[in-house]
Amino acid sequence: MNRLMIRNIGQLLTLRGASGRPKTGSSLSDLGIIENGCVAIEGETIAAVGTEQEVWHRLCQRWGERLSDKADVMDAGGRVVMPGMVDPHTHLVFAGTREYELEMRLQGATYLEILQAGGGILATTRKTRQATEEELLRQASSRLDRFLQYGVTTVEAKSGYGLDWKHEWKQLRVARRLHETHPVDVVSTFMGAHVVPEEYRNDPDRYVDIVVDEMIPQVADKGLAEFCDVFCEKDVFSLEQSRRVLEAGKRHGLMPKIHADEMEAMGGAELAADLGAISADHLLRVSDRGICRLAETGVIAVLLPGTAFYLMAPFARARDMIEAGVAVALSTDCNPGSSPTMSMPMILNLACLHMRMTPAEAISAATINAAHAIGRGWQIGSLEEGKQADLVLLDAPHYAFLQYHFGINLIDTVIKKGRVVVK
Ligand code: NIG
Ligand code: FE
Repeated sequence: MNRLMIRNIGQLLTLRGASGRPKTGSSLSDLGIIENGCVAIEGETIAAVGTEQEVWHRLCQRWGERLSDKADVMDAGGRVVMPGMVDPHTHLVFAGTREYELEMRLQGATYLEILQAGGGILATTRKTRQATEEELLRQASSRLDRFLQYGVTTVEAKSGYGLDWKHEWKQLRVARRLHETHPVDVVSTFMGAHVVPEEYRNDPDRYVDIVVDEMIPQVADKGLAEFCDVFCEKDVFSLEQSRRVLEAGKRHGLMPKIHADEMEAMGGAELAADLGAISADHLLRVSDRGICRLAETGVIAVLLPGTAFYLMAPFARARDMIEAGVAVALSTDCNPGSSPTMSMPMILNLACLHMRMTPAEAISAATINAAHAIGRGWQIGSLEEGKQADLVLLDAPHYAFLQYHFGINLIDTVIKKGRVVVK
């Protein structure tokens, strides 16, 4: 079995102690730092974490005396080691690009106007329907390569560019194949209710019926997704339509997620709270009441500052949420229209500089809380004995270098399930 010991770690960010439930309030700043730390890995799992002395002691018990014969040793050279980042909200699988929309928006068109004119998500749907499964796989796989280079070891991936069963299924198959073949783990969400497809423009409720009565049961039946998401937004899906979709998902064992209160305060956060959703995402315009309801019900707020930046929209009120006791996670929202990036470090920069999260809060939000936002807090997001050995070495002596620098990649080495995958 593969055994690896990483020693001489300047700052070891364990994020320990939150595997049961996400971090809120002041615990968001607690990175569980061990100075001069050491991590031992056995197979795909973390065998021991602590100071060098503690880890040697623990391993002597497990492996016997002559440790260096029994494990490969990596010298971290005083650098930072942290959990592999988790991206809990991406639209990973799609075909084509929409660079021309950037110019349209710079000339004054809004994101929703472009969508209503048949562009935006609808343009990507046309391209995604035309693409073969192999072509989609190739494009999404190279995006995953990029995620890995930026220190992300698990991503959630939504369907929602098929908008009919044949093509939604194709997207979900691609996500599954990527999970099986690519080093990055992929967790699937069904988002047939991303927008109303052009063929149902005049009868949107009929499309909701199809999502509810035909697509969701098949997704559940085939075990293709764990979560169900909906774009609850003015002129997209109403609160009532969103409720129907998410309740149907729940009946079939798909946990609700929601694109909520992005362009308008629609009550999406409140709906997430009523339904016991695992997360409510975006929340750029969430109401005070919405924030209170998220805190009361433990729904995780997945914030996507890349989208606010790229759509030139106001940023989410992360500080108000943290102060109200909401568990906050961060994500890229990687997609071809509103956030074409795979850079979690850039998201951490934006979280600090535009949402005033501290560097430590941003790291908790991109690791353990992000893991909880996809139901994986027990397995990933922190460095603790028994958890999956997904970790990142930063080319930095202090974790705040990640937010202090911008536009450069400080990820030095990535280890996924105990194996070095980026060096
Ligand atoms: O999360 N808001 C809706 N969906 C995506 C954008 C998808 C696209 O523009 O292709 C989002 O921002
Ligand atoms: Fe999204």
